[in-house]
Amino acid sequence: MTKTSTTIGSDWGYAPAPESADHFKLKDQYGLFIGGKFVPAASGKRLKTINPANEKVIAEVADGGEKDVAKAVQAARTAYDKVWRKMSGRERGKYLYRIARIIQERARELAVVESMDGGKPIRESRDVDIPLAAAHFFYHAGWGDKLRYAFPGKSVSPIGVAGQIIPWNFPLLMVAWKVAPALACGNTVVLKPAETTPLTALLFSEICQEAGLPEGVFNLITGAGSTGAALVNHPGLDKVAFTGSTEVGKAIQKSLAGRGTRLTLELGGKAAHIIFEDATIDQAVEGIINGIYFNQGHVCCAGSRLLVQESVEEEVVTKLKARMESLIVGDPLDKNTDIGAINSKAQWDRIRDYLKIGEEEGAELFQTKCSVPEKGYWIRPSFFTRVAQSHRIVQEEIFGPVLAIQTFRTLNEALEKANNTPYGLSGGVWTDKGAKIFKVTRGIRAGVIWANTFNKFDPTSPFGGYKESGYGREGGRHGLRPYVELS
Ligand code: NAI
Ligand code: MG
Repeated sequence: MTKTSTTIGSDWGYAPAPESADHFKLKDQYGLFIGGKFVPAASGKRLKTINPANEKVIAEVADGGEKDVAKAVQAARTAYDKVWRKMSGRERGKYLYRIARIIQERARELAVVESMDGGKPIRESRDVDIPLAAAHFFYHAGWGDKLRYAFPGKSVSPIGVAGQIIPWNFPLLMVAWKVAPALACGNTVVLKPAETTPLTALLFSEICQEAGLPEGVFNLITGAGSTGAALVNHPGLDKVAFTGSTEVGKAIQKSLAGRGTRLTLELGGKAAHIIFEDATIDQAVEGIINGIYFNQGHVCCAGSRLLVQESVEEEVVTKLKARMESLIVGDPLDKNTDIGAINSKAQWDRIRDYLKIGEEEGAELFQTKCSVPEKGYWIRPSFFTRVAQSHRIVQEEIFGPVLAIQTFRTLNEALEKANNTPYGLSGGVWTDKGAKIFKVTRGIRAGVIWANTFNKFDPTSPFGGYKESGYGREGGRHGLRPYVELS
């Protein structure tokens, strides 16, 4: 057998198992989706979206500006007043249900496009992103006619037009997290996807057409940060929902101050992942891998700070290294791939900067020996030991496959370290003792804490943060609250 990039250290390599990309056809150019139709940007400008695994251009998308935003907000307002708010929850639910079904029907195409546009392994887009996106629409389809049970004793009404801005790490899933609750509660939407991953949001716009969603209920404006800013600054919005960096979240909060526009923010994180000496270490090691190397570590709730009880540090680190050496980095469309391409050149540079910073700060870097393709943006799975709480690699979100490992002796020390961060999005704990789980889940100030597992998501379960990780919840009954008026 010839050695491939997926050969792992011995002659027992994996033969390539690429998913084909010939079962669908993408267009060369996509417009904005306004009032139920695809239209070019008023300026005529376009952006290219590339495949980060080979740096090739996949398609060009419209670069939306203020005029386009104004048109989209107007379309959303008209649809809200004339159609959507008046429709019964039961009827609205049917549209959401249809959208969910079409996502399932087009799942294979959506998964491949997600992996091509953003670099994530096909196994993840196929088994996590796309099924969860469909599940989110199914779940919210069910709420359509039951909102009064979600808020007993209250009269529930929608709030109006929502402007929503999403990041590039879970492109279609973030569309679902934003759009499904908004529509289920009777609001209309103008959404801006991230500039590096607009394609599945464009396919989602096609799905809305296919589902016969009344025109203007969902509108899509592609573009970069300035397009997002134009959306946020439009006075016609009743609500803004943002997922992305803490820096941009703070800027949005400032620009909305005093306007009475509602805001929810889902921002960065630096989650503590705590391993006690009584944990099942082999399973905990799988949890660590899933916590930080899932989706190249481009995960706001990633378990990026590992806290290991001192007595088992050596065992955990030895087993972790051995397991990491079996991770395959490479072609996102190959079903063997564990770690795909870094989403963009900018993010690749940012992660490489942090690798340098960590070494300059005096931490010790471990990286696996796997080979990586020549073209494209890749980072081998990495971790730092000998880190101090004050190191930037412990305090700042790296958003890549880079773990910082610290030790602790007592539960209280673990909690103190876990909470010593400006963020508060997620956390994790591995132990045999239920009592310790309760102490940790009560002791960490974070929105989501996993016990003896990590990175598990479900539409029924609220997700969101504290402190600089933002506010507001998505998913579950709590996730409906930002989209309703109660009286
Ligand atoms: P970003 O926050 O700039 O991008 C997220 C979205 O916001 C994109 O759609 C972008 O076009 C839009 N945006 C950018 N500037 C805007 C503005 N002034 N007004 C309105 N919308 C704006 O994130 P970026 O630069 O791609 O990544 C930088 C770092 O942010 C990452 O390294 C990571 O640490 C963090 N991040 C966190 C995410 C999360 O899920 N919590 C998601 C993406 C990034
Ligand atoms: Mg792309």
